[in-house]
Amino acid sequence: MTSKKTAHPHETDALTLNGVEFTHRDIHTVVDLFYSRVQTDPLLSVPFMSVHDWPDHVKRLTHFWWIRFGGTPYMMSQYNPVEKHFFAGFNSELLAHWLKLFHATLKEKLSEDQYEIWALATLRMGHALAAKNEMYKQEYERATEARSGGESSDTNSRKSYNC
Ligand code: HEM
Repeated sequence: MTSKKTAHPHETDALTLNGVEFTHRDIHTVVDLFYSRVQTDPLLSVPFMSVHDWPDHVKRLTHFWWIRFGGTPYMMSQYNPVEKHFFAGFNSELLAHWLKLFHATLKEKLSEDQYEIWALATLRMGHALAAKNEMYKQEYERATEARSGGESSDTNSRKSYNC
């Protein structure tokens, strides 16, 4: 039986984002080098201890950026960044450091045009992630408080929701 899944792109297959071309190899090269640096980075290696299969992480993140930039999906992959980042301890200090390391990697491996467009994409996503992380945190804290409040002060914990 043959699979109908879209074939994995060749290294030289390319997409164009705002007039700037990226090959699949460009994306993979950046992602691979960035995460090899993350693994030895004093600050970022800590939240990334949750990653046990680095080759798989690199594959998933290469695919993430490929489709994010308009490429055709070629693997079954669902992303849930807000929840994952929240539980990884995402905060503004880690984000600033992530961006610095990512941008340095882009600068080293890509052309100036490619650098600019990808760096801008990460800045926008970084802002969006920070905002969503804050909302997730507030909801999480509310839910935790409601649970512990209900358990400790009143067995009929619904009361607190109904007022
Ligand atoms: C603009 C900045 C960032 C972008 C675009 C980004 C993007 C992503 C994406 C798409 C994933 C995959 C999510 C999934 O599998 O559902 C991921 C995973 C992850 N990110 Fe980020 N990230 C950023 C910053 C950070 C920062 C600052 C941290 C530090 C806490 C971080 C820690 C992680 C970890 C630990 C995972 C792996 C979670 C796991 O699979 O166990 N990321 N990131």
